[in-house]
Amino acid sequence: MKAHKNHGTSLIDLSISNPTQADVGLPDPFSIARLEADRYTPLAKGSWQAREQIAIYYEQEFSSKITPDQILLTTSTSEAYSYCFKLIANPGDSILIPQPSYPLLQFLIEAEGLEARPYPLHQADGEWLLDRDGLLQACNNKTKAIILVQPNNPTGHFLKSDDLKWLMEFSADRIWLISDEVFADYAWSAECTQTRSLTQIEAPNVFSLSGLSKICALPQMKLGWIVMPQNQSVYKNLELVADTYLSVSAPIQQAAACWLPQRAQFQSPIRERCLTNLQGIPARIKNTQWSILPVEAGWSAILKGPANDGEEAFALRLLERDVCVHPGFYYDLPFQNSLVISLLTPPHQMISGIGTIISS
Ligand SMILES: Cc1ncc(COP(=O)(O)O)c(C=O)c1O
Repeated sequence: MKAHKNHGTSLIDLSISNPTQADVGLPDPFSIARLEADRYTPLAKGSWQAREQIAIYYEQEFSSKITPDQILLTTSTSEAYSYCFKLIANPGDSILIPQPSYPLLQFLIEAEGLEARPYPLHQADGEWLLDRDGLLQACNNKTKAIILVQPNNPTGHFLKSDDLKWLMEFSADRIWLISDEVFADYAWSAECTQTRSLTQIEAPNVFSLSGLSKICALPQMKLGWIVMPQNQSVYKNLELVADTYLSVSAPIQQAAACWLPQRAQFQSPIRERCLTNLQGIPARIKNTQWSILPVEAGWSAILKGPANDGEEAFALRLLERDVCVHPGFYYDLPFQNSLVISLLTPPHQMISGIGTIISS
């Protein structure tokens, strides 16, 4: 997209996904934990205290029985992906990724010399479903893993129980599943009955990934992790990968053990912001040609609009009017004219941004 020429007016950024830049009112992380480490004890999997708190997090949020032994710290979820790929695949192998989904997945896979092969999700009656035939077609004899993003970004849906059951049966004994659960804490309905974390299933072929960037809205602290299946050889080999880099800083590991139990302090203002926006948007687009897709979870919403001269041209026109959005094709959304907007946007900006969208 062309650079935005801001004529002295302020840009309304409906694409802001960084919680530290969205004026959400997050607490000061250093009032909860101090960064200190005068001694360094290198541990490939990461500090016991941090891994113990992560295990407690899984127990409290998902009733999952995870042991600290199963957890390996990384500097981010992105790095967690790269460690899993190093463990399970060799250059030339392929990894299946959902489509639509988070655009970085393809780059993370290709950076390891692997092929990213998309499998389609399709939308019917407001629900996102797995296209099982499409997934079978995407698999080849070099496929080593299937990624699922639970809940998916930007569709905000959890895989339905029967799709998940089918996927577990299909992958068992032959293909790894990598479940990206960074947004699993942000389900918007109190009645959400979906399997939010695959740690709830205890399958031998599943890696679950997450991190502080969403759980504590602390992307700047750079801490992610892998929950490994209970398998000594997986522990040993992933430990070797991690030991090669020892990338996670000691003060962050120490502080994480304090931030995680306090996650509600970080999550509350984000929940409030997202819910305010989710509740406010329908009234703003009522009686227009725009609609919002149902959002089960996560920090994004998808708006579908009337046919026009293309998503990119439309997004550029909005930019000329000082509103920044992500066109749907960034995420391979299967629609002619859709936009992805961030629920982290300050509500007054959301209102004026949507006003501009519906009048453009
Ligand atoms: C689905 C998904 N996975 C992973 C990440 C990256 O997380 P991290 O900051 O821990 O690398 C993001 C970031 O937005 C994301 O949306």
